[in-house]
Amino acid sequence: MAIVLRDTPLVRALFTRIRDKEASREQFVTCSDRLVHLLVEEALAHLPTSPLTVATPCGAFDGLALPADHTLCAVSILRAADCMLGVVRAMMPSITVGKVLIQRDEATALPSLLYAKLPPDIAAKAAVLLLDPMLATGGSAVKCIELLVERGVDPAKIVFVNVVCCGEGLEAVAKAFPQVRVVTGAIDPILNESKYIVPGLGDFGDRYFGTD
Ligand code: PRP
Ligand code: URA
Repeated sequence: MAIVLRDTPLVRALFTRIRDKEASREQFVTCSDRLVHLLVEEALAHLPTSPLTVATPCGAFDGLALPADHTLCAVSILRAADCMLGVVRAMMPSITVGKVLIQRDEATALPSLLYAKLPPDIAAKAAVLLLDPMLATGGSAVKCIELLVERGVDPAKIVFVNVVCCGEGLEAVAKAFPQVRVVTGAIDPILNESKYIVPGLGDFGDRYFGTD
């Protein structure tokens, strides 16, 4: 299931900045961090809550509590998703973190899994926020979800948080793992012959880290 961030003027303005190839690195970093903040709040809105009544200075308020940070896990698909991890950890300092290095071959666009370090109790977490700003062919995301499932994670507990995707990548994830929810900022129409998203924004990791 894909949940797309509401296309408000703010969201469109932030996207316009990061899609612009003339944007400075500072603009790219600031605006993508702001979008990631909105995306993570949207992802949290889809986690189970529990009733919580608190005392205001003037009375009682029947509210809701989100799961505690330490019952959640954020998994960053390196390298680009480390851009998202700073935002997640600023919002939830006690969240546990897993890192998985998956790199696409530049010629074939096929992903290779090179490294993984996940919390040993990841299967017991209330939810796993899987982070990757770009979902193109879906190869990297599917490979990472396969690993999480091998480690005992229920796909229904995975929320994939993504900045830009395209139909092909969404379909690949939905076909392999229909229970995984995808929270994305935009669904773009196509991939080009190099398997980059069009119009997309180019190579997210290179633009964020200044390696382009
Ligand atoms: C990018 C991106 C995703 C992947 C998406 O990473 O961050 O992980 O490509 O493409 P896919 O859906 O076709 O697999 P890349 O391997 O380019 O490495 P990077 O994180 O170093 O930029
Ligand atoms: N990775 C990126 O960074 N951008 C794309 O368009 C596709 C994969």
